[in-house]
Amino acid sequence: MSDGNGLITMQLMGKSYQVPSGLTIMAAIEYAGYKLVRGAGCRGGFCGACPTLYRRDGSHRIFTALACQTLVEDGMCLVQMPFVPLLTRPYDLHAIVPQPNTLLQHFPEIAGCVACNTCARSCPQGLPVMDYIQAALRGDIERAAMLSFDCIACGICSSRCPADIKHYAVGLLARRIYGKYLAPPAPDLARRVAEIAAGRYDAELDALISLPAAELRARYEQRSFEAVADGAEPYSATRRYNSPMDPVDYQDELAG
Ligand code: SF4
Ligand code: SF4
Ligand code: FES
Repeated sequence: MSDGNGLITMQLMGKSYQVPSGLTIMAAIEYAGYKLVRGAGCRGGFCGACPTLYRRDGSHRIFTALACQTLVEDGMCLVQMPFVPLLTRPYDLHAIVPQPNTLLQHFPEIAGCVACNTCARSCPQGLPVMDYIQAALRGDIERAAMLSFDCIACGICSSRCPADIKHYAVGLLARRIYGKYLAPPAPDLARRVAEIAAGRYDAELDALISLPAAELRARYEQRSFEAVADGAEPYSATRRYNSPMDPVDYQDELAG
């Protein structure tokens, strides 16, 4: 319960802690005195290292989140997830022949998908996870690659899947196959690679490498970003590939 001074109460592995509201779950865990030596990486929502399960007061559901991207709430009862194990099946990307059954051959368990959509409802990236697994099952490698494009391999979906599918690995192979065999060639990229091979940027790179760290950091912070053309929509693989997001976001529904 909030104490009126901006402190709220969270429970971490069964112990109660008073922490300031407005912190991310990850910052609140550190505020409570824990040093995170596992389950923390980029702290920016990209690496997938910080999957978290939690309960809320008054709800019978288990919720999922990335600890570095989600604010701590009064009454949260938290536990950090281990990574969902994947028994590695080595493959040689150079030897793969992209065919409609390629993903199914590498991940036969996708045939066990019961279309429950639990994976999509638990994905902190809001990805249409079931749709990309179904695309993989149908042999639509391009669609599986595009719909899984923003997967950060946190493993939350896999922890909840009744068919024990390792979604992140399926999406990764789809993207690798798409990138190597199916994506149309990019002339700009080929031109830039040729320029690099011809040494066009050698002097510039040598100059950068010899800079002191502070100057390098300052230049990094002042770097410019590629402008988005006026009126251009931000890229959205989900929209482009016409996959409707799950209309029932039960977590928000309950929170509201
Ligand atoms: S959780 Fe598993 S079984 Fe359910 S839709 Fe997703 S992939 Fe299919
Ligand atoms: S698809 Fe699964 S592994 Fe990828 S970000 Fe979503 S929940 Fe995490
Ligand atoms: S620490 Fe990288 S996604 Fe949270």
